[in-house]
Amino acid sequence: MRVLLTASIVLTALAGAASAQDGAALFNAQCKSCHTLTAANSPAGPSLKGVAGRKIAGAPGYAYSKALSAKGGTWTDGQLDAYLAGPATFAPGTKMFNKVADPKARAAIVAYLKTQK
Ligand code: HEC
Repeated sequence: MRVLLTASIVLTALAGAASAQDGAALFNAQCKSCHTLTAANSPAGPSLKGVAGRKIAGAPGYAYSKALSAKGGTWTDGQLDAYLAGPATFAPGTKMFNKVADPKARAAIVAYLKTQK
């Protein structure tokens, strides 16, 4: 029993690591054209460095839409997931249109963003 439990914990940890790695590939393919992971914003979108846990619409020097600025609060995993699932549903009037339909892909991207502090 204990052995099984340990094995399942190890597997879960491995799945978590793989997920962030998948997220990196997805980020490079789907997000990098508009978002940096450095302190500097891209001309096409705010920097996502440290976005997990950061104030919503909180990248210094980026001109956010009123819709996202008015949201308030900080980005939780759940809110990041909701925004990526449907930006216009999460913040009607947001300047971002790109969505990620696959929940697994969203989870991987959020896991990756959490590594980019
Ligand atoms: C075509 C450009 C474009 C692409 C591609 C894009 N975004 Fe965005 N994103 C934006 C813009 C513009 C904003 C600012 C939205 C606003 O002000 O309403 C934004 C905002 C965000 C925010 C909120 C940031 C903050 O500081 O509060 C997150 C999180 C985000 N994008 C994640 C992603 C992820 C993850 C992907 C890839 C799956 C992605 N975006 C793809 C343009 C883009």
